[in-house]
Amino acid sequence: SFMGEISGLEVLEKRIKETLQVENVIIVPGNSDEDPWIKQEMGKACVSYLKEIVKSGVTIAVTGGSTVAAVADVMTPLNEQDDLLFVPARGGVGEKVENQASRIAAEMAKRAMGDYRMLYVPDPISERTYQTLINEPSIHEMVQIIKNADIVLHGVGDALSMARRRKTELSILDKLKEANAVSEAFGYYFDERGDIVHKVRTVGLQLEDLLGIKQVITIAGGKSKGQAIASYFQQGKSDLLITDRAAAEQILKGN
Ligand code: G3H
Repeated sequence: SFMGEISGLEVLEKRIKETLQVENVIIVPGNSDEDPWIKQEMGKACVSYLKEIVKSGVTIAVTGGSTVAAVADVMTPLNEQDDLLFVPARGGVGEKVENQASRIAAEMAKRAMGDYRMLYVPDPISERTYQTLINEPSIHEMVQIIKNADIVLHGVGDALSMARRRKTELSILDKLKEANAVSEAFGYYFDERGDIVHKVRTVGLQLEDLLGIKQVITIAGGKSKGQAIASYFQQGKSDLLITDRAAAEQILKGN
């Protein structure tokens, strides 16, 4: 029954909170591996939550990926003032344009009647170019805006699937396999214990910056991501996990 389903999800939410040691969890029914529209259901849950917490003039930084893109698909105005600012959390990490954070930030802003700022950074970039770019005044200014975001919304991916999707060079793929990389978030790759095993070099939010962010929202679902989500939560900062039932059940199986 519908009521049975809802109370079942509440029990699951409580168990995930305990397992991952996260303050807040929202679980939607379904498995986004099988039904891609479940990503939009997670997206709607995210929009409702944002409506509750946003204050006038807040900045929301977003990562790339199809899950955060699905949040953009269902975005609506979040407050009466329509004065929110959307920015990409980091520069390019190898994604095609649909999955790029800048594209998603612009789309969210349009639907939320807010503003957006872009971060134009080619990828991949060499260490030398990186050093030059971060000293460029316009980029430096954007990075300050990003690091001072009030809310960060990010996806989590399975490490090797993400590396392949981003056409990562073979030597790095080998490195990820050797290090038993399990998850990816923000262009960082983590092992089962949540230790960083590789990082895409790009400007913008670095993992340690998350500690200063008031609300970090993690959005990721699908049975195939259970392990990846658990890996990210070993050490990664998050105040809220939005996921689906299939991922939640997989997380509990692994423990
Ligand atoms: O940055 C990408 C995320 O880690 C996962 O992407 O939402 O398409 O699975 P996804």
